[in-house]
Amino acid sequence: MNDSPLLTVKELNKRYGSGCENCQSPHDLTGQDNRCPSCGSVWACIDVNLDLYKGEILGIVGESGSGKSSLVKSLYFDDEVTSGSAAISSYKEGEENIFKVSSQQKRYIRNYLMGMVYQNPWLGLKMSFSSGGNIAEKLIASGSFHVGDIRKRAAELLEHVEIPLARMDELPKNFSGGMQQRVQISKALANNPSILLLDEVTTGLDLSVQAKVLDLIRKIQREFNVGMIVVSHDLGVIRMLADRTIVMRHGRIVEQGLTDQILEDPQHPYTQQLVHSLLHV
Ligand SMILES: Nc1ncnc2c1ncn2[C@@H]1O[C@H](COP(=O)(O)OP(=O)(O)OP(=O)(O)O)[C@@H](O)[C@H]1O
Ligand SMILES: [Mg+2]
Ligand SMILES: [Zn+2]
Repeated sequence: MNDSPLLTVKELNKRYGSGCENCQSPHDLTGQDNRCPSCGSVWACIDVNLDLYKGEILGIVGESGSGKSSLVKSLYFDDEVTSGSAAISSYKEGEENIFKVSSQQKRYIRNYLMGMVYQNPWLGLKMSFSSGGNIAEKLIASGSFHVGDIRKRAAELLEHVEIPLARMDELPKNFSGGMQQRVQISKALANNPSILLLDEVTTGLDLSVQAKVLDLIRKIQREFNVGMIVVSHDLGVIRMLADRTIVMRHGRIVEQGLTDQILEDPQHPYTQQLVHSLLHV
């Protein structure tokens, strides 16, 4: 954790909606709420700054609507940021604002340097492709063309997430939720990304399946040495995974630090409330 960050995000702002004279800047909004009362636009991320280091898991926690998905979707270029910058140390020596590069370059960054697991498997997987086919798609996008190699690598990746080889040619829509998430994870790992984004990867899964997916994420951390951003509204998941944690509320980071410290000595009243409810369920 001592070298320079893999990913540095500065002053990221994301507004959904076209805005009006009362909400040109997030700072125009008075009060805590990040929704403009005049036009209904939402500042989903406000002045977000963060660093992600190689090999670490950075947790992002916060209630529904706090801007967690907006943040990772912005980083994966699914949604365009309104302002701000991000740099990746392995891309143009970390000198380029990746939000400002051409769409071709964005595709390169997404295909070669990043992996993403969506909360909703239907967003992350093509359900009419076999699970092997889904992985192949990512492999091809990141420059693999040899059919035999692709199949071999897809098989390896599925094995890694403990999907039986016999199911490689099946459609993931026939899989259980936990298996779909594992196919998404193997797809996200296909290009050996340096940055992995995981959005609510265990939400909606049974506790036993959830435990398996959490184990898998820890195994990936050990074996692949990627930097991961793990988003969850569940502080219990964050406690099990994250080295450092960011707490978001109404689009803003209200607290960040070592996960242990945040759990032991939360500073912000909102975090205190989160920690309190975690310990008293
Ligand atoms: N495509 C969109 N168009 C309009 N508003 C959006 C869009 N996506 C998100 N928002 C708004 O931005 C805010 C942040 O949403 P976001 O999905 O990032 O929250 P979240 O922290 O991921 O919540 P959850 O825990 O429910 O997944 C919310 O007010 C949401 O309604
Ligand atoms: Mg979300
Ligand atoms: Zn407005």
